[in-house]
Amino acid sequence: MESKLYLYLVWVRLWHWSNGLFFLLLLFSGISLQYSSEKFALIRFDIAVSMHNISGVILSIAYVVFILGNIFTANGKYYKIPKRGFPMELFNQIKYYTVGIFTKKKSPYPINIDRKFNPLQKLSYVGAMYILMPILIASGFGLIFPEILIHKIFGMSGLHLTGLVHIIAGFGLSVFMLIHIYFCTIGKTPTSNFKSMINGWH
Ligand code: HEM
Repeated sequence: MESKLYLYLVWVRLWHWSNGLFFLLLLFSGISLQYSSEKFALIRFDIAVSMHNISGVILSIAYVVFILGNIFTANGKYYKIPKRGFPMELFNQIKYYTVGIFTKKKSPYPINIDRKFNPLQKLSYVGAMYILMPILIASGFGLIFPEILIHKIFGMSGLHLTGLVHIIAGFGLSVFMLIHIYFCTIGKTPTSNFKSMINGWH
């Protein structure tokens, strides 16, 4: 019989759901800002600007909580990528998702107290939280305070380049979120992972 594991500490859950909420607000206001014209705006332009800036600042504060939480609590250990054998672990996990799962094979890296994430989850969470998020946040602050940006980089406007980087990072994280939510439905039942992120228990 499988036993229950307490995997999601209170701060992780609070961080996660505020991160998800403010990320969605940023996504909707960001899309509205990108595609609004004088004739049409999904959300009124000035409201979308305030919504985007305020949500961005709150998301950044939540991000600092996430980083400090991972430094000062045991949660950080789940994000460490092993120096050896990780590509093979990834291959095994992909093989499981593409073949094993349909032939009722057992998961190659079952969840336990020392391994909250399978190798694919680990790679995607590290990529999202330690690569894309800092790029998104840093470029976002560059757009709020353009005076801190380098004026010209290789003849290109520093502001335009920062805008481009911001949109690419936001797009990457939006794609991450869609795939992330899909994979969260592949649990014991389609809703079990969502319940775990609410009550803490896996
Ligand atoms: C609002 C939409 C979202 C939903 C419904 C959702 C759902 C979930 C669920 C059910 C889990 C627990 C299962 C697991 O550990 O894989 C989880 C964990 C996680 N999610 Fe999300 N998520 C959302 C948005 C996001 C976004 C936007 C990010 C990052 C930009 C994110 C990053 C993470 C991370 C890093 C974890 C692992 C946290 C930890 O235990 O240390 N999620 N998510």
